[in-house]
Amino acid sequence: MKVFLNSEFMSRDEARISPDDRGFLFSDGAYEVIRSINGKLFRPEEHFSRLERSLRELRISGIEIESLKQIPEKLIAYNDLTDGDATVYIQITRGEAPRKHAFPDRRTAPTIYACASVFCPIREKFQKGVKIILVPDTRWSRCDIKSVALLPNILANQQAKESGAEEAVFVRNGTVTEGTHTNFCAVYGGELLTHPLSNRILGGITRNVVLDICREQNIPFREFPVFEGELRAAEEMMIVGTTTDVMPVVEVDGRRVKDGKPGPITRKLMEAFQKMVYRSR
Ligand SMILES: Cc1ncc(COP(=O)(O)O)c(C=O)c1O
Repeated sequence: MKVFLNSEFMSRDEARISPDDRGFLFSDGAYEVIRSINGKLFRPEEHFSRLERSLRELRISGIEIESLKQIPEKLIAYNDLTDGDATVYIQITRGEAPRKHAFPDRRTAPTIYACASVFCPIREKFQKGVKIILVPDTRWSRCDIKSVALLPNILANQQAKESGAEEAVFVRNGTVTEGTHTNFCAVYGGELLTHPLSNRILGGITRNVVLDICREQNIPFREFPVFEGELRAAEEMMIVGTTTDVMPVVEVDGRRVKDGKPGPITRKLMEAFQKMVYRSR
């Protein structure tokens, strides 16, 4: 397997990152995951501009985003992933330096790591829908940054897996924010609601695409908070993300969403989204 580290492609076995890397010591870094279908990346520009924004917000400098843009396609090619679904992971940390909280010397080069893997969407989940659990949103107040510091997300997703659910969805002060690696949408009276862009959620690329599909297909939508107390009244729910696509949610904390089957708006969005993703091949 070939990976990219700092300035070169190399075998994964050769890749070495220092124990003093601030990514390891402090989770001081940002990342992106980009989907590839038959060797073609889905919305790479949006992922790179979000990465640029994350780095700017974290004040990690010294990265020329343009120079990173050739990495994903090369990784896909070098790893024979040009047929079928794959993902490319890119992580940038503040680099290697003695462990001190404040930023290291300005000459410290950021660490850039990227790899590609096969991705296998499970068809049955799209047909039947998935279960979610609700958990308190214990995360920091800059969820708009795609930081590698993901402990609350890890603990919550593990809790979901242990209770037989696909995803954990965070609730802060009675408002449903987003999932551990997905954005959340619910349908009320035929209108799709999803949390507005703010410091409380990651501005998902998939969320953007879903809202574009709503515009194109005249599906009413509003970027408006979904309240936990009103979840029981939701007609449909879905989670959306790069490694999730548009996924129907049919059970929340053991309670069925309506008749426990993916609803019509979810199915419409799921189909349109998949068409769009697989058309990009
Ligand atoms: C917390 C969080 N919200 C939402 C998303 C969905 O974002 P995207 O659609 O860009 O993958 C992710 C993706 O990893 C995420 O980590």
